[in-house]
Amino acid sequence: MRNNRGLLGRRSFLIGLGAGVTGLAVAVGAHQLQARQKKATSKPEPTDTPVQVRDNFQVTGDAPLKERAAAKGLFFGAASGFGQLSKDEAFATEFARESAVLVAESDMKWKNLRPDPETFNFKRLDWLYDFTQRQKMLFRGHPLIWHKSMPEWFEETVTEKNAEAVLTEHIQRVAGYYAGKVHSWDVVNEAIMPSQGRQDGLRKTPWLKFLGADYIDLAFRVAAETDPKALLVYNENRLDYDTPEMEQRRTGLLKLLERLKSKGTPVQVLGVQGHLFPGELPFKPEVLRKFLAEVAAMGLKIMITEMDATDRNLPGDVVQRDNMVATAYEDYLSAALDEPAVMGVMTWGLSDRYTWIAGFRPRDDGEPVRPLPLDKDLNRKRAWQAIARAFDSAPSRIPPS
Ligand code: G3I
Repeated sequence: MRNNRGLLGRRSFLIGLGAGVTGLAVAVGAHQLQARQKKATSKPEPTDTPVQVRDNFQVTGDAPLKERAAAKGLFFGAASGFGQLSKDEAFATEFARESAVLVAESDMKWKNLRPDPETFNFKRLDWLYDFTQRQKMLFRGHPLIWHKSMPEWFEETVTEKNAEAVLTEHIQRVAGYYAGKVHSWDVVNEAIMPSQGRQDGLRKTPWLKFLGADYIDLAFRVAAETDPKALLVYNENRLDYDTPEMEQRRTGLLKLLERLKSKGTPVQVLGVQGHLFPGELPFKPEVLRKFLAEVAAMGLKIMITEMDATDRNLPGDVVQRDNMVATAYEDYLSAALDEPAVMGVMTWGLSDRYTWIAGFRPRDDGEPVRPLPLDKDLNRKRAWQAIARAFDSAPSRIPPS
């Protein structure tokens, strides 16, 4: 993912925050942010959209997120892994309390599953699957085909000649192993990158180099044959904000989905990752709504698959920071859940105790990051309340009886 650190420095935030967040709403000057963006990209600017940071996220009752979602015919889930759930009982308990779906965060990636070309090591995934069965949760596979987290042997052994067989075998072996047991598969992950300049907007990956654009169709066809019961998802990132880069990505993705649909490729769901950048990038609900409506008009369902909120450049003060993170969650989900095609929401991790953001996007002041619904002591944060409120006020998907 692109590094956004340069887009808005901490000083601009403090200016934007003015006297702090003691009042009901604080407008963070998006024009400052856009001025920085213009300097950095020289591209046309988005229109000015000040963010109203709220400080009150009161919710009714203490029902967990999965129940609030289910009450509307939606689902809530989260990503985690063997290393966390098998060794941290308190975390596993909270995880099962809040989530109806478990997504394998890293254990299904080629690098972790396939130490050599012949071996598929399902041990950790089997543990995760058994956990979902004990806890009456759904299990979700992520990802079958991605360009990242590939083992070293891939580069040494995969060629134009054998790439089709390797891709097919991987999907048959992995999706076949869990066939009929999985809620959904991220069949292809993050395949677009229009900024690389290809006309079809596809990302330059070994799969594309060896098999051409049709590697995506092939992956979905093999997945559909292998596990006809699971939902087949195309999962993508950086679609959420009102920036020229993300507009280009939304356009490129719509083009790809149209192409897949027109060829009868069995893609059923778009996974919108939803990694948020409160205070760093301008969010416009109408932009997200329009995009989701366009996806829905193609007959696709939508899942929000990897929500979290990078707080790298937010103020050190935990209350201010949590308010900004919670506001971002609620603003985003309020817009997304209004789209009837949206089926559910998953966060990328559940507690700040375990988050990739700590390693990939740490804060300069060395303070722990706080991107997720629960804090590191497993207490519910304002981000939790924000998600709860978004479910509570979402339109119901349950048909009246
Ligand atoms: O397990 C090893 C550990 O033994 C070693 O000491 C340590 C040293 O760096 O690395 C550990 O592995 C890391 C692993 O995360 C542990 O969780 C890998 O280096 C690191 O590359 C890996 O990062 C994961 C990343 O995808 C790449 O696979 C993140 O956890 C995971 O959250 C992230 O998830 C991606 C989604 O799959 C796709 N969308 C974006 C999302 C965030 O980047």
